[in-house]
Amino acid sequence: MTDEQGPPEFGLTWPIKRSFVTYVLGMPDGRAGAVEGAFPLPDLSVVFEHDPSVDAAALGDGWAFRGDVRFAGHFGMLFVRIADPWLVRTDDGVLLTIADPDAQDDGPRVPLATVTVEQTGAGEWASTAVALTAQGSELFNSVYPVGDPLDPFTLRVPVGA
Ligand code: HEM
Repeated sequence: MTDEQGPPEFGLTWPIKRSFVTYVLGMPDGRAGAVEGAFPLPDLSVVFEHDPSVDAAALGDGWAFRGDVRFAGHFGMLFVRIADPWLVRTDDGVLLTIADPDAQDDGPRVPLATVTVEQTGAGEWASTAVALTAQGSELFNSVYPVGDPLDPFTLRVPVGA
């Protein structure tokens, strides 16, 4: 359910990729929806709510956000789900992972993008690069090549989270 109280205080604010959103919404049957913790803003970005309930062992060193954003069009041929984005520090840098795009119960999380972030305030961070992984490229039908940029995001988490 969309929260009618306004966007959450802590979350990841991200347009994902505005050119893609504009493409989908330009189709006669194009649809975009945001539920379960994802709060759409008028500028086409979405706030994914910070989710402190995720088990630390599952998450590792990172931040979890929740929300389910789906795009559909081309009479069912196009379906893209971006849900529950997590930012996880790995030996190779920060990965942005998402819940199984096929929405299977207990399906594997997939790495969508490699990112770099910079701190912009207390508990506040902004991406400086968001580059598609191979799986991320496939999610968009390989229209965007590996390494192609997604849109930048900002995030706000409780200080010390
Ligand atoms: C019926 C099959 C499809 C047709 C006829 C089709 C057609 C097109 C066309 C004509 C464009 C260029 C749009 C423009 O420049 O304004 C485009 C772009 C694109 N298509 Fe499709 N497409 C199809 C299926 C898909 C599917 C299944 C995906 C999966 C996600 C997809 C993802 C994209 C993406 C990511 C772009 C680039 C959007 C952008 O950033 O400008 N398409 N497609």
